[in-house]
Amino acid sequence: MVHAGHFGPMKDEESLEAIAAALDLGVNFIDTSDAYGAGYSEALLGEALKGKRDKVILATKGGNVMVGPNRGKRNFAVDYIGPVMEESLKRLQTDYIDLYQLHNPNLEVIRGGEVWELLERRKKEGKIRHYGVSINTIEEGVAAVQDGRSDTIQVEYNLLDQEPAEKVFPPAQRANVGVIVRVPLRRGLLTGKLILEDQQRFQGEDVRARNFAGEIFKRELEKVKQLRFLERPGRSLAQAAIAFCLGHPAVSVVIPGGRNGHQVRENAAAADLKLSADELQQITELWRGGFSR
Ligand SMILES: NC(=O)c1ccc[n+]([C@@H]2O[C@H](COP(=O)([O-])OP(=O)(O)OC[C@H]3O[C@@H](n4cnc5c(N)ncnc54)[C@H](OP(=O)(O)O)[C@@H]3O)[C@@H](O)[C@H]2O)c1
Repeated sequence: MVHAGHFGPMKDEESLEAIAAALDLGVNFIDTSDAYGAGYSEALLGEALKGKRDKVILATKGGNVMVGPNRGKRNFAVDYIGPVMEESLKRLQTDYIDLYQLHNPNLEVIRGGEVWELLERRKKEGKIRHYGVSINTIEEGVAAVQDGRSDTIQVEYNLLDQEPAEKVFPPAQRANVGVIVRVPLRRGLLTGKLILEDQQRFQGEDVRARNFAGEIFKRELEKVKQLRFLERPGRSLAQAAIAFCLGHPAVSVVIPGGRNGHQVRENAAAADLKLSADELQQITELWRGGFSR
């Protein structure tokens, strides 16, 4: 998302450096969407992965209309998803997508019929290897797992939003549905680097403009202060936040955004870290004691 400018302006050279650093470190899962910059991120990734396609499990998404009169709407009709999937394949310069995700469908789509038949057909043709959903609510996550057709669910989960671990992860684990954790750093908040004044620079298309404002932002910053105990010499708060997500047994992969090589290296190093039982206990207490409100 960050590479298409959804977190403020980006330079391609920084994006390419971030992707190169990731591959260098052995990161082998990359998530994108045709919605990020209306195809921009996919095209950039397609260029960056030339000759290296086999090194990564490539996940993308479709269903959010980004151009034309329906911009901003969602569309999971067969005659929409079919063509946009072809466009994703072209932009990514590949003949197969490892994981194709419906990008935030509602309950009706999750439990519905036709688009799933299309995904199954594309799988048989070899254009996609697996398919799943990216979900917004607990109810959608539970429905996708119960429905049984999704190989994976992509869900926001982090130190400040632990509800999925209570309600979605257990059934996902039982059903062997892969869990992709998104927004593990709460869009940068869980690095500990943001201050109240930062809200002024989050404007327009910046994803933080909506949520990082007013009282809500103030409360979230207060919660981050209470998590500072997780910082250690040699372990940043961001790394602890990622390690927290990775540590849950239901979690298959965590997808922090990384703006540049430096962020990617810091984030990837979290894969070698483990939080202690005491730390996990304190995190649970914070969640039950007020974070969840
Ligand atoms: N509906 C969906 O399907 C959906 C929704 C959201 C996200 N996603 C997926 O999940 C991915 C991750 O989510 P996200 O990018 O929204 O949230 P995130 O991973 O929690 O936060 C990423 C942002 O935090 C900052 N950051 C990252 N690592 C850092 C570090 N080591 N030190 C300091 N700052 C750091 C960067 O922004 P700054 O440098 O600007 O601070 C970066 O863009 C997205 O790229 C996308 O693939 C999917």
